[in-house]
Amino acid sequence: VRSIQLSYSSPDPFLFSSFPRIFSKFETRCGSLSIVVLGASGDLAKKKTFPALFNLYRQGFLPPSEVHIFGYARSKITDDELKERIRGVLIQAKDTMPEHSESVSKFLQLIKYVSGSYDTEEGFHLLDNEISKHECGSSRRLFYLALPPSVYPSVCKMIKRCCTSKSDSGGWSRIVVEKPFGKDTESAEQLSAQIGELFDESQIYRIDHYLGKELVQNLLVLRFANRFFMPLWNRDNIDNVQIVFREDFGTEGRGGYFDEYGIIRDIIQNHLLQVLCLIAMEKPISLKPENIRDEKVKVLQSVLPIKDEEVVLGQYDGYTSDPTVPDNSNTPTFATVILRIHNERWEGVPFVLKAGKALNSRKAEIRVQFKDVPGDIFKCKKQGRNEFVIRLQPSEAMYMKLTVKQPGLEMDTVQSELDLSYKHRYQGVTIPEAYERLILDTIRGDQQHFVRRDELKAAWEIFSPLLHIIDDGQLKPIPYKPGSRGPAQADELLTKATDDNC
Ligand code: NDP
Ligand code: BG6
Repeated sequence: VRSIQLSYSSPDPFLFSSFPRIFSKFETRCGSLSIVVLGASGDLAKKKTFPALFNLYRQGFLPPSEVHIFGYARSKITDDELKERIRGVLIQAKDTMPEHSESVSKFLQLIKYVSGSYDTEEGFHLLDNEISKHECGSSRRLFYLALPPSVYPSVCKMIKRCCTSKSDSGGWSRIVVEKPFGKDTESAEQLSAQIGELFDESQIYRIDHYLGKELVQNLLVLRFANRFFMPLWNRDNIDNVQIVFREDFGTEGRGGYFDEYGIIRDIIQNHLLQVLCLIAMEKPISLKPENIRDEKVKVLQSVLPIKDEEVVLGQYDGYTSDPTVPDNSNTPTFATVILRIHNERWEGVPFVLKAGKALNSRKAEIRVQFKDVPGDIFKCKKQGRNEFVIRLQPSEAMYMKLTVKQPGLEMDTVQSELDLSYKHRYQGVTIPEAYERLILDTIRGDQQHFVRRDELKAAWEIFSPLLHIIDDGQLKPIPYKPGSRGPAQADELLTKATDDNC
């Protein structure tokens, strides 16, 4: 070392300098945009898809001169009945000011309902006719499958046969599919192959709504636009990373679906694993979707096989009293799983993924715990290790726990926080709903926040062996009380995994 200069240089200018170039690349509005919600009669469409479309409409992203929305499902309901259902959700959810109800009414005028089956051409020809009636100029068609995955292949086949855009220039057809994408590697690959025969990967948008959350999107900026984190973000400084999802309610009316999937397939294999990728990945060479997704795949492929002794499963008392759940169900409603990444940056750092239903609070957060200070002269006075917490919800925030001098005459230490709570820092800013943002991305043709086929396969490969053991009944969930922290064994596993590292 010749000299040491105490100053901060700016972070790598290369990565984020590509922002404007990337965004200006996406298509601007021209011609007609038809958004088709398949499964329009269902729960997701009502609770998430239509409200997200309404919010985009309100903000001017869906100009009535260009946009038409179609609902499609088997239910024999009228246009007005569908609109009344949607109105009910939109009026309830937002303010009751006259302007609001006026904009709801205008939004509803954009919607047309078509009834038909999912596996015959008749209904899809009818749908195509309705779409074509409203089109002029280039035809852009977005098909949002708010449907059970069992019907994805037949619906995609019908769309391909009867409904894709016929425009040569400026037109497109895109398919948005919801999770769960399969139940394990084999079934997911089968589903991907079936859809992949009909549409190119560039036309398929696999939604994981956690990728649309504000603070999940912020991870990339936080990590790669701040010099602070660059030297610290590795095994030399980080002791462990905890990614935690808790809900304070049970499966509530979704017992039948949930029992087939369980908490690992419902939350951990997708939502929490996506967060892990963004925390652990290397810097992509640019912000282009393919470059980002390449890095995520590398992380997933570096995850070591899960050890049975690094898993704790739970099932809350009362789960099986749901009539749609079998009395002898072995499905976990809680899981703590430790993942280990075998690469230069993360060797030896446990990534603790924890998710549970019917727990003591509703929260999703990331806790990055740092190692203790070497040769610490304050050790006897210390009140806890450095920790960087990113709260995804509720009340988005990030804060850094650090040790400071207790103000006063004594040389005592205290743990305090550098706190960036969004509510206080960004007063008056409305944080968009995840679905709103992701639907806008599908219209713009930005696949950055969607799961690529190889990424999905790599994600399933991590969990499939464990899931098969659970499905075979070889690993049993431990009962826990609703409203608790989950099984005590999960806390013991966490303590053991993080203590081993000290
Ligand atoms: P629903 O069970 O409400 O199904 C949506 C629509 O699909 C129904 O209204 C029904 O319409 C049709 N449908 C239902 N079952 C079948 C079947 N067996 N065969 C053919 N059609 C059927 O599902 P959700 O709306 O809750 O979810 C849709 C998708 O989104 C699923 O993949 C789900 O896993 C996923 N998802 C849902 C979330 C939610 O909060 N609901 C959250 C995240 C993902 P009709 O009979 O009128 O044709
Ligand atoms: C869905 C799961 O994907 O995410 C649900 O199927 C869960 O079980 C939901 O409740 C949680 O989403 P959020 O955005 O409320 O954390």
